[in-house]
Amino acid sequence: MLSYRHSFHAGNHADLLKHLVLLALLRKLREKDKAFSYLDSHAGAGLYDLYSANALMNAEYESGIARLWRQSVSSPLLQEYLQCVQTFNSDGDLRYYPGSPAIARSAMREQDRLVLLDLQQEELDLLRAHLRGDDRVAIHQRDAFEGLLALTPPEPRRGLVLIDPSYEQKADYQRVVDCVHKLHRRWPVGIVALWYPLLGKARDRSAWLKKALRQERLDALCSIELTVSAQTAEFGMHGSGMLLVNTPWQLERTLADAMAELLPRLGADARFNIETLSENE
Ligand SMILES: C[S@@+](CC[C@H](N)C(=O)[O-])C[C@H]1O[C@@H](n2cnc3c(N)ncnc32)[C@H](O)[C@@H]1O
Repeated sequence: MLSYRHSFHAGNHADLLKHLVLLALLRKLREKDKAFSYLDSHAGAGLYDLYSANALMNAEYESGIARLWRQSVSSPLLQEYLQCVQTFNSDGDLRYYPGSPAIARSAMREQDRLVLLDLQQEELDLLRAHLRGDDRVAIHQRDAFEGLLALTPPEPRRGLVLIDPSYEQKADYQRVVDCVHKLHRRWPVGIVALWYPLLGKARDRSAWLKKALRQERLDALCSIELTVSAQTAEFGMHGSGMLLVNTPWQLERTLADAMAELLPRLGADARFNIETLSENE
């Protein structure tokens, strides 16, 4: 039984990292006119109301997107990200936060394709309502790990997959490793962007995940991590990371510039780390 609802977490520091990396990758893909595919294995609802009871429960967006809202920024990546969020909040009040499908769509062109998967009916209903009438988009109610393998390699073949599980079960970590392994073999040119949480010492599996993926000998593997506080002994999420396969050339530089500008706005304890785990071919 799935219980995760992203509406409790929308716009938090993990979304900041994930969505900035996502936009940075899409900017790279847009450098060529040739069409590309965007696959989103855990798409969620696509748009979140930050005034909803779920979002207000812990108001996680206050330590995420709210720190950047109405700020002037100079990194082109941060500018595009803020412009995207602004299109959903045209009266200047921060009320709606776009999820990964909406952020990706804002960065895509007529010739590009979006393939979105989720399992939960409620999330899918909202997603379909939000993206209705856009014939670039295909939405599937399907298990992410099974569906991704069935739908790859996609057409067009250039492209990117975002894998953003909720890690509700410990077994999800192994499923992710198996999925990335198979995906890379079925679709060697595909860029993979995998989100993972950085948790308290008792629950953190990030070192295991990175080690397991390193052993898969994936091409151009790197990780980008953003933390907003020190690691605790218990469960709490103090940050998150993105693991990238087929990392585009110079992406790390773009992200480092954006993160350096973002960091002071997230508080004195905020840190980021970019690590190359295998060399570019
Ligand atoms: C972290 S949220 C996605 C957030 C979204 N990617 C974003 O950035 O806006 C995870 C989503 O995965 C869905 N989910 C959980 N397990 C799944 C599975 N096995 N297959 C497909 N979707 C799943 C949940 O319903 C939830 O909407």
